Amino acid sequence: MNKKTVRDIDVKNKKVLVRCDFNVPYDENRVITDNRRIVAALPTIKYLLENNASVILCSHLGRPKGEVKPEFSLNIVADELSRLLGQEVKLAGDVVGESAQKLASEMKNGEVILLENVRYEPGEEKNDPELSKKFASLAELYVNDAFGTAHRAHSSTTGVADFLPAVSGFLIEKELKFLGESLENPERPFMAILGGRKVSDKIGVIESLLEKVDVLMIGGAMAYTFFKSMGYTVGNSICEDDKVDLARSLMEKAKEKGVKFMLPVDTKVGKEFKPDTESKVVKYTEIPDGWEGFDIGTETIALYSEELKKAKTVIWNGPVGLFEFDQFAVGTNSIARALADVDAVKIIGGGDSAAAVEKAGLAEKFTHISTGGGASLEFLEGKKLPGIEALQDK
Ligand code: 3PG
Repeated sequence: MNKKTVRDIDVKNKKVLVRCDFNVPYDENRVITDNRRIVAALPTIKYLLENNASVILCSHLGRPKGEVKPEFSLNIVADELSRLLGQEVKLAGDVVGESAQKLASEMKNGEVILLENVRYEPGEEKNDPELSKKFASLAELYVNDAFGTAHRAHSSTTGVADFLPAVSGFLIEKELKFLGESLENPERPFMAILGGRKVSDKIGVIESLLEKVDVLMIGGAMAYTFFKSMGYTVGNSICEDDKVDLARSLMEKAKEKGVKFMLPVDTKVGKEFKPDTESKVVKYTEIPDGWEGFDIGTETIALYSEELKKAKTVIWNGPVGLFEFDQFAVGTNSIARALADVDAVKIIGGGDSAAAVEKAGLAEKFTHISTGGGASLEFLEGKKLPGIEALQDK
């Protein structure tokens, strides 16, 4: 990476503002259901503490849209951080107001505080320079380690870098290493599995991957738009009629590039959008009227799993079925299991596919599981991420 990291600057006796992505899922009782993003931020925080800095953490949680809403408070994250670090992490009562300023000014080396949800501030998502200056006034150095939010040009992710020396943390460094290297210099065969609901969400990433991969496997609801483009009916399945031509042209492009473009050969359809709905596996050419496709079928699982055995590098982004419902999670879980046994560099491009691999208890079997959903997708599309661009070059 050509950006400076915390290793490249002197952090001793410095107050360091660290932007993390603590946007973690939590349930109705405000219990965090997946703490991976918090755990992933620990190496940078620990490094700063071990090097006698004082650490001011900040993050967003959800989308409170510029208003103070207690249900989006970072108090649950402060508790989890205190537990993981084994030391108290005080939560400021505001983002850059009196409480934050007081805590920041009184803190000593080796201490950690957390600011309240940066999206309580109306200026955050507008990248308001006044807010950026206030963030900067709390500290002497700025570290961005929020890979999951690096695609957002907000005050706490980019604007603040105009007012403080700005470097990257270890998480961003690691994400760029794995995602970047796999794209730049992959060991071949290089395969990608793309799932998700819509072709329109994945156009950029499909186009970009067609330039790089040897095999592209499609799963998820976007497969039905491809089936339609081949002239088949798809029952009640999700289908973007206005993207049918695009789907066809993507397949043609794959052919021109010599990329093996794999679509499901069968699909598990259900009567209704319900966990216990009646279901059956049908050929992709025979989706009955009134039924909706929710997962890849058994033949597809076997076909994809067999193909993956040959891979030396694999990127997977997006579940291949409606994995929130057990009976339609079979495809995603089977692909996760098949991939777990493949001897290759295996990268999970964040979001729901990361959650699926975690849920299946297979995380250890993968080379890298990205903490970015939208951010890793934009990176795979070849876009520049503003939160990274804003950092000092080496
Ligand atoms: C994410 O979960 O993808 C990031 O935290 C970014 O959140 P956002 O989509 O609300 O900007």
